[in-house]
Amino acid sequence: MAHVLVTGAAGFIGSHTVDQLLAAGHTVTGVDNFRTGRRANLAAALTSARCSLHEQDVAAPGALAALVGATKPDAIIHLAALVSVQESMTNPDLNYSLNIHTTHLVAEAARLNGVRRLVFASSAAIYGDATDLPIRESSEKKPISPYGAAKLASEAIFLGHGAAFGITVRCQRYFNVFGPRQDPASPYSGVISIFDRRYREGKGVTIFGDGQQTRDFISVHDVARANVLAATRPDIPSGVANICTGRSTSLLEVVGVFARHYPAAPAVVLAAPRTGDIVHSLGAPEEAERALGFRATVSVATGLGELIAAG
Ligand SMILES: NC(=O)c1ccc[n+]([C@@H]2O[C@H](COP(=O)([O-])OP(=O)(O)OC[C@H]3O[C@@H](n4cnc5c(N)ncnc54)[C@H](O)[C@@H]3O)[C@@H](O)[C@H]2O)c1
Repeated sequence: MAHVLVTGAAGFIGSHTVDQLLAAGHTVTGVDNFRTGRRANLAAALTSARCSLHEQDVAAPGALAALVGATKPDAIIHLAALVSVQESMTNPDLNYSLNIHTTHLVAEAARLNGVRRLVFASSAAIYGDATDLPIRESSEKKPISPYGAAKLASEAIFLGHGAAFGITVRCQRYFNVFGPRQDPASPYSGVISIFDRRYREGKGVTIFGDGQQTRDFISVHDVARANVLAATRPDIPSGVANICTGRSTSLLEVVGVFARHYPAAPAVVLAAPRTGDIVHSLGAPEEAERALGFRATVSVATGLGELIAAG
């Protein structure tokens, strides 16, 4: 069994990753400063003797290196980040600090303390508004936001450190993740979490555009499983992989599922498209299967059903 340090452990993806690591018998050291995460996300995990949570800013110089030195994990899963594309546009400096400089601090903490494996939460945002679908790992990288640029730079920082210092590095390019514990508070949160909250509150939803835009929506349970594999599966090579389903779902299809569960909700409103919004996004999932043995198994219908049932 492995000991895995997870940054951003109290967040949406982090908390599910911690849950699955514990369920598989591993030991977890969680780190979070609660910038966007919540301690409540780890309520169940923290009942385990194999889980500890440290309230700490990963960006604070020396702090993570000290914790890694004291706890000596086998692997680090680095999820802590400024997670809003919009916030990266309004505050590129903070994006640089939290999403690039912090990556270097994590890589150094690993090097200085002999950590053998690093897993990084990258994003489909590194591909920008790619139109040649499905998007493969070899597709052109053309970020269109400071957030996407920072994710691409972070991949390079980790892979460079890995090659130089003999650390196995896995960069996980998540597509559109959805599921329980996703924060719907910001207007730029995942669209499914926003729809979920609106329907729950008896309100209708507005779609910008004709609703035919599509995304590769992947359940957070699948993403967490991909993280566990990347951190603990023996004998895997360094590399990058899309973490996606390879299936596209339109926003109208998503709304259709909610509307069936909430028949009294107002009808969907279609508004003018927002400039810059990507129309279609779809990932090719084969590389994750080849390198990690990972294939997404939760359908959008099943995942939405779970979300709605979670009440
Ligand atoms: N949700 C998605 O669809 C998606 C898609 C692609 C990539 N990602 C990436 O996955 C990772 C996790 O995202 P999420 O959706 O779970 O968001 P989240 O906001 O729920 O999780 C991020 C966590 O990191 C913590 N954090 C932020 N800065 C920190 C710091 N300096 N020190 C310590 N903790 C800090 C936050 O408090 C939060 O708990 C992020 O790196 C994000 O960029 C998410």
